[in-house]
Amino acid sequence: MNVFGRAADHHEQVVFCSDPASGLRAIIAIYSTVLGPALGGTRFYPYPNEDAALADVLNLSRAMAYKAACAGLDLGGGKAVIIGDPQKDKTEALLRAYGRFIQSLGGRYYTACDVGTDVQDMDIIARECQFVTGRSAAYGGSGDSAVLTAFGVMEGMRAAAEHVWGKPELNGRRVGVCGVGKVGRRLIEHLLAEGASVVVADTDSAAVDRVRDQHPEVESVAVDDLPTLAMDVFSPCALGAVLTDPLVHVLQAQVVCGAANNQLAHPGIDKLLHDRGILYAPDYVVNAGGLIQVADAIDGFSEPRARGRASQIFDTTRLVFALAEGEGVPSGQAADRIADQRMGEIGRLRSLWLPSRP
Ligand code: NAI
Repeated sequence: MNVFGRAADHHEQVVFCSDPASGLRAIIAIYSTVLGPALGGTRFYPYPNEDAALADVLNLSRAMAYKAACAGLDLGGGKAVIIGDPQKDKTEALLRAYGRFIQSLGGRYYTACDVGTDVQDMDIIARECQFVTGRSAAYGGSGDSAVLTAFGVMEGMRAAAEHVWGKPELNGRRVGVCGVGKVGRRLIEHLLAEGASVVVADTDSAAVDRVRDQHPEVESVAVDDLPTLAMDVFSPCALGAVLTDPLVHVLQAQVVCGAANNQLAHPGIDKLLHDRGILYAPDYVVNAGGLIQVADAIDGFSEPRARGRASQIFDTTRLVFALAEGEGVPSGQAADRIADQRMGEIGRLRSLWLPSRP
């Protein structure tokens, strides 16, 4: 296996953690600590093989670095995956073994929740490790990060609306939300409150039923049909890699803006959307609210402070669109430039010698 050829894909450090007695098999990937300690959630997922787990953690940790940089946080980017089925394999011993591996990194990596882990798991990991956020309110944590993630996506969507239709309003617009889990269903609340009409799709019919029970005015369709409908905004809020070549070719929306991480199936999709005249609000720019929420909790959570910071996603998204337009590049590329610039400019300061630093 060509470990360095893949892992050296500009990552600083990749750690393989094994504790056979508890069944722990985890990979922690640290893409960058240039702006501060790497922060990113732990995904507990039944990957079909180790290669798939490694590929996922490398992609996700890079995105976290770019997300933190664009959100103006003094944090680097990292992510971790635990290979296994959270329903069957998650035990106290496994989580605590994992916590000891995080602790051994001495603060280079902070963890939080992701797919397959929740705030209660973070509380268990924290019994072995001080570098954990996204904890329950009982332990001073910020609770479910989906709250500010959905809020931030809405701010990004307003910026996209302003760019395309001249006003930062979704009133009267038709929005297709793909995935109505923790983030998607909260986003729907914001959209309905603003006067948008909403059509949803989810592979889990119970998730759709829950939304429609609460909001009978919401329409639902099959997952494959959603992108083909006439709508103003397509909002991917399920898994990554949803924006494929075939999907973009049938997409009717003028704007793509959603919470899912790593939405582009490959980097060329950014240009394809641009060429088709569809405005893409880069995923890691608009979904940074959750990161902002758990980052705030590291030093004691303040909801108003975190919400205030998440509301800046509106201005950041605007800046991305302005740069993209000014330079004639797709918006994903414009966001990368902003993140790279901040990592370069602020990261450079670390090279100024300070007496307290080794
Ligand atoms: P979730 O697991 O609560 O909800 C995901 C929903 O998508 C579920 O209802 C699931 O049935 C549905 N789904 C799965 N595959 C699907 C498919 N192929 N087509 C349509 N629906 C499908 O997850 P959550 O927390 O709502 O996150 C949604 C996305 O946002 C994920 O990609 C996540 O990585 C990303 N995200 C979440 C953040 C958070 O704070 N929760 C922060 C930043 C990003």
